[in-house]
This record gives sequence, structure tokens and C-alpha cells, in this order.
Amino acid sequence: MNIEGLCFVITGSGNGIGEGTAMLAAQYGAKIVVSDTDDASGERVAKSIRERGGKAVYQHCDVSDERQVAELMDFASTTFGGIDILHNNAGIHESAIGNQLSLESMPTSVFDKVIAVNLTGSWLCAKYALPYLRKSANASIINSASVSSISGYQNCVAYGASKGGVMQLTKMLAVDLAADNIRVNCYCPGSVRTQMVDSYLQAAEDPELVLNSMTKTHLIPRMGTPNDVAELVCFLASPQSKFVNGVAWLIDGGSLAWRGTADQLGMET
Ligand SMILES: NC(=O)c1ccc[n+]([C@@H]2O[C@H](COP(=O)([O-])OP(=O)(O)OC[C@H]3O[C@@H](n4cnc5c(N)ncnc54)[C@H](O)[C@@H]3O)[C@@H](O)[C@H]2O)c1
Repeated sequence: MNIEGLCFVITGSGNGIGEGTAMLAAQYGAKIVVSDTDDASGERVAKSIRERGGKAVYQHCDVSDERQVAELMDFASTTFGGIDILHNNAGIHESAIGNQLSLESMPTSVFDKVIAVNLTGSWLCAKYALPYLRKSANASIINSASVSSISGYQNCVAYGASKGGVMQLTKMLAVDLAADNIRVNCYCPGSVRTQMVDSYLQAAEDPELVLNSMTKTHLIPRMGTPNDVAELVCFLASPQSKFVNGVAWLIDGGSLAWRGTADQLGMET
């Protein structure tokens, strides 16, 4: 993956998929701005990259806060001389905020928060990264959508609505930024084992049943890993994908390719 020397800004990269992407992109020689609201985790990731000989700094940023987003992009450009890749990874699910997940019980503030982080946050980061991305010869924005951008799931109303929005945001920005030579893509993961999935499982009435429904619908009969997704992000960031623009790339172990469960195919999960 030819991403050596590119500057990545990765939101929410203190944990999970963002952390996996920060580690892998640094391994491929990219310069990484780790950013998160969880300072201890973000500092840990940046330090771990530096200890392995990579280039990384940490900056606190809540993507739903316009001032912090503007400061993040200024900081990234001042530190590494520009921004090439914006990875809009930061995201939350309503199950991490509380267990009132039905249409009737969920407070409006929870719905608003999920939209503010997942959708408005991605838009804000793109807006404030744009002046720097315009100056890059290999600029792209990579958004984190989801299989729930496309398909329905139980207890995911706010999350699914936000991720559907992220998928369309991707296409609209790809059109608007094409003349600036900035590619905009998103990817749609199936179930990847991170804190987010753990809290979704904890909030479920029958966690075992939900876990089974996640893995049993994958044609590759396991959960995804942050590194699985990180490899795709690095590809989408690299010049190897230079004719890929405006896509919503499924990375779901094949779950949306069919209607069935793995035991029908005689596979163990
Ligand atoms: N794990 C999955 O199965 C899965 C599937 C589809 C999509 N995704 C998406 O991938 C992205 C990463 O998810 P993950 O599974 O690694 O989750 P995670 O909870 O492990 O990590 C998310 C990170 O985002 C940070 N964060 C939360 N709110 C923030 C904010 N306002 N500003 C900045 N950072 C914030 C958290 O502190 C955390 O470090 C999310 O956008 C998520 O929706 C995950």
C-alpha cells in the first residue's frame, strides 16, 4: 500500500477500528494524527506508534464540536505540513448511551447526539479539512458507514439513520469535491468486535442470540477485526484506488450477499 509520507487525520482513533487503522497506516509509513475524546486511549495509541518507529501525535477532538474540529485540522497541518487523508471514523451507537432504545422510550437528546457525532461530525470534519485537502496531490476523505446504512436492524434507529446519512453524504461530497481532485468514499462494515459491539450486545435482552445472528449471517463465519477494516481504509487512501470514487464499499463478511445463516451451509460459527 503506497501511503508512505501521507498525513492521515483519524477521528475516534483511541480504540477499535480507528486504532487499528492508525496502527496499520503508520506501519505503511503514513504520518498519523490520532484524535479522540478519550485522551488516555488516544495518547496510548500515538505513543505506541512512536515506540514502533512511526510518526504520530495526539490531539483531543470531539467531532460534534465545531471549534475543536477546526483546531484539529489546524494542528494536523501545522504538525505534519498538510492533510492528505481524512478518515471520519468517530462514531457512537445509542446502546452506549442508555438502554432506552425503542421509538417510544428513547429521549430526543440521545437521537440528536448520535446524529451530531456520526453525521454532523463527519460533515464538520470534511468542511474544516477541505482547505488543507485541496493542497494535497493525493487527497481523499474516507467515511465510516455501516451495513445499517443499507439494511434494517433491531434497536438501531438513530444509528441506522445517521449511517444512512453518512452514505449519502459521501456521494454528495464526491460530486462537490471532484473538481478539487478530492476522492470521497465510505465503507460499510458488518460486525467487527470492538467496544461498540460489546455495548450493543450488553443492551440486548438475549446477547447470545444477537451475537449468533451477527456471526451466523456472515459467509466468512467469524466477526470482523479492526485490522480487516484498516486494510480497506489504507487501500482507499492509497493511489492504488485512484479510480475509486463515491463508493459505499461493503466489508461485511458477505452478510448482505444472501439471506440465510451459516448452519444452512454446514459451517461452524
Ligand atoms: N464495530 C462494528 O461492528 C462497526 C460496524 C459498522 C460501522 N462501525 C463504525 O466504525 C466506527 C468505529 O467504531 P468502533 O466499533 O471502532 O467503535 P469504538 O467504540 O471501539 O471506538 C469509537 C471511538 O470513537 C470515539 N468517540 C466517541 N465519540 C466521539 C466524539 N464525539 N468525537 C471523537 N471521538 C469520539 C470513542 O472514544 C472511541 O475511541 C464508528 O463510526 C462505527 O459506527 C463499526
